Amino acid sequence: MKVAVVTETFPGEKRVALIPANVAQLTKAGLDVIVQSGAGAAAGFADASYQEKGAEIANDRAAAFAADLALQVRCLGANPEAGRADLEYMRTGQIIVGMCDPFGSPAAVRDVAGAGADLFSLELIPRITRAQSMDVLSSMATIAGYRAVLLAAIELPKIFPMLMTAAGTLTAARVFVIGAGVAGLQAIATAKRLGGVVHAYDVRPACREQVESLGGRFVELQLEAGESEDKGGYAKAMDDEFYRRQRELMANVVAESDVVITTAAIPGKKSPLLVTQEAAEGMTPGGVIVDLAAERGGNCEVSKPDERVVHNGVVILGPTNLPSEAPYHASQMFSNNVAKFLLNMVKDGKIELNLEDEIVRETLVAHDGEVANPRLRELLGLEPLMASDSANEEAPEPEAH
Ligand code: NAI
Repeated sequence: MKVAVVTETFPGEKRVALIPANVAQLTKAGLDVIVQSGAGAAAGFADASYQEKGAEIANDRAAAFAADLALQVRCLGANPEAGRADLEYMRTGQIIVGMCDPFGSPAAVRDVAGAGADLFSLELIPRITRAQSMDVLSSMATIAGYRAVLLAAIELPKIFPMLMTAAGTLTAARVFVIGAGVAGLQAIATAKRLGGVVHAYDVRPACREQVESLGGRFVELQLEAGESEDKGGYAKAMDDEFYRRQRELMANVVAESDVVITTAAIPGKKSPLLVTQEAAEGMTPGGVIVDLAAERGGNCEVSKPDERVVHNGVVILGPTNLPSEAPYHASQMFSNNVAKFLLNMVKDGKIELNLEDEIVRETLVAHDGEVANPRLRELLGLEPLMASDSANEEAPEPEAH
């Protein structure tokens, strides 16, 4: 079975879905790896380094897409415009693997299903221990959290560490991280390494210990969160009154901070508004807000996706593709995740769609010409797929591709 690594076509995307170091793992499992010429170049991986590891180079996209399985970082959905051009290469029986923003762009999943291909959405990898090594969202959030702090450090007219010098004492920068998930924890660790004084808040109480273990201080808010975590470890959406109180209570902490990094997200929903324009105005001029949720509505009222806004002397950034700014390591992590994901499905050199396996079932969003995910079908106004629903329950025979 042939697996192709195709070049990313999303504007500015520098990552590649598979790096040379993972080629041998796949070939050992009986998969032939084909790489579209130049696919790894922007991330620092030349065609020759793939060839050295046993991959074949395809000269154009059509030749790469002729493979049984196409790997991408951003498939159609996560690449809404340029990604449409790939529909012409898709066909029945082919498998596409990558991020496709299924709940943000459900129609794209329907289009891939219409083209006949099976589509795996890597965003939907379940957060179970067995799938931890495949979790691309965690990998990319790690890079984003790190880069967010670097962006803030460059913008800030101060330096992060406390310095006692012959020219006087410089106080340490105060950093407030809102949302202490994967990106937030990495932001805390990075800001600490730079010498900042870091405060953090998360609606999930489990985060307190993690924040403190990184040297951050957990901000106490007099808020009754109740049940704030779902069984997948994600935050639950709270009601409007909760968010209103949270904004009110956090405004003081925001005002005292030099840098605010917001990472709060609710899977499949618009991100909660946590820093109002008024709160941003409460910061000292020169302050910096980096809103990592800008793509999904934003945690900060003033942020705009991929824009640098200056409001009352405060700089507000809303970067939406930070992992692509550290493409070498982001690709390394993505590639390790995707290799583990594929190896979990390979048997005798073929991909086996074992719908009994939670990882396969949860990520397979298009199958047999249909949108296979029940939540996506609902969003698209499609009737439930009775046959596949009962098939899931009755654990069908695995299908080999
Ligand atoms: P995410 O990107 O969906 O959200 C980021 C953070 O925002 C979360 O920590 C969430 O609690 C927080 N948040 C939401 N609403 C908020 C509000 N109003 N105020 C403050 N914070 C708010 O989540 P992420 O980072 O992808 O993962 C969250 C958690 O999932 C992890 O911390 C971990 O516990 C769990 N997880 C489990 C994994 C596994 O078992 N394989 C892998 C990765 C994460």
